[in-house]
Amino acid sequence: MAAGISRRRLLAGGAAVTGGAAVTALAAAARDAGPAGGVPATGRSAPDAPGASGGSAGSGVNAATVSASAVEPFDGVHQAGIATTPQAHAVFVGFDLRPGTGREAVVRLMQLLTDDARRLTQGRPALADTEPELATAPARLTVTFGFGPGLFAAAKVPSPLAPLPSFTTDELDERWSGGDLLVQICADDPITVAHALRMIVKDARSFTRVRWTQRGFRRSAHAQAPGTTQRNLMGQLDGTVNPADLDRAVWISDGPAWLRGGTTLVLRRIRMNLESWDAADRVAREFTIGRRLDTGAPLTGRAEHDEPDFARLNRLGFPVISEYAHIRRARTEDPGLRILRRPYNYDEGLTADGTSDSGLIFASYQADIGRQFVPVQRRLAEGDLLNEWVTTVGSAVFAVPPGCAADGWIGDRML
Ligand code: HEM
Repeated sequence: MAAGISRRRLLAGGAAVTGGAAVTALAAAARDAGPAGGVPATGRSAPDAPGASGGSAGSGVNAATVSASAVEPFDGVHQAGIATTPQAHAVFVGFDLRPGTGREAVVRLMQLLTDDARRLTQGRPALADTEPELATAPARLTVTFGFGPGLFAAAKVPSPLAPLPSFTTDELDERWSGGDLLVQICADDPITVAHALRMIVKDARSFTRVRWTQRGFRRSAHAQAPGTTQRNLMGQLDGTVNPADLDRAVWISDGPAWLRGGTTLVLRRIRMNLESWDAADRVAREFTIGRRLDTGAPLTGRAEHDEPDFARLNRLGFPVISEYAHIRRARTEDPGLRILRRPYNYDEGLTADGTSDSGLIFASYQADIGRQFVPVQRRLAEGDLLNEWVTTVGSAVFAVPPGCAADGWIGDRML
């Protein structure tokens, strides 16, 4: 153990966490101390333990089916792609409006893009589709639009978005940040995503420039049973705790009339340092999150959806789930104020020495960024063991307008 850091301080979580070695020491000390309540304080499971690969719902691979013709509704009170069960593939595109693009041009742009989205999501080619055969497999395609601060300025509409405060753990790169218009395209098939992207970009071209493109993926639909929580590239079940009451937590019910039924999106690109994560043992990894890797159960529980017992102490009288564990820092007690996480993994290839550029495209939907996202992110920045291995390199905020009627277009109530 590092000189000057007593076992007691480590267990109490009072010592400054200075690196992966410190987390490992912290975790080892907690393991030695053992639980007070009979449930193992840390997972000792091997990757081949029952349930290790299949996640919460078991393997159930045979039960899973993928249907290329499956369709998600486009028209409705809310835009699709938010409450929709996450599809396996996604691309997020941030556009900037070309200089001189005013309100009328934005109207025209949104009419065009809505028409593309409505057709493609229903398995029909876009107007003047150059590859109409690619449109026949919608594979649960959704196309979701978000408006950034610049779009409000161009349309001369007061922006409901405030910039995020800066967080000490951020190392933001312009390359992955900002944007006037977001288009989120998700489907269970990567060719469907690529085709929809191409159609959208073609129609957006005369009004916009592409600022960034972020591609993400989750486990494919046929690789796990429906309802199974996905795993991120650190190997954790990611997405266990999400709000149940979307009417309270996600959909906006006050403020400007045009935004009611809409939401907001905070999109963060979070790089994972998988090389140094390799050096953390299983105990340290589980201690960092506060959950077991095999089942996703909290360190105080047995099953993924067991409520974590944050008050449970180990035999030495210290919390089984560390004061600095990710799930404790991220927890919002009021379920109505929780954020809806809909993350995608990214993995952009290797450097010559084999180092990966991997991480999470962290998409957080909430009714109110200031009340919901910011306090969580602030607590994480102030002291989350996970910070040792993750760095936020991109950040953007968008207002997501409500859905539209069959003869409407996204943004029609605002514009
Ligand atoms: C690469 C970065 C991140 C990784 C690998 C990660 C991983 C995880 C994991 C494994 C869990 C536990 C299972 C679950 O409930 O899903 C979790 C929970 C959670 N995370 Fe993260 N996370 C990351 C970033 C963030 C960020 C940036 C936020 C918000 C600002 C956040 C908010 C949450 C919340 C709210 C929970 C649920 C906490 C609860 O139990 O109430 N996470 N995360």
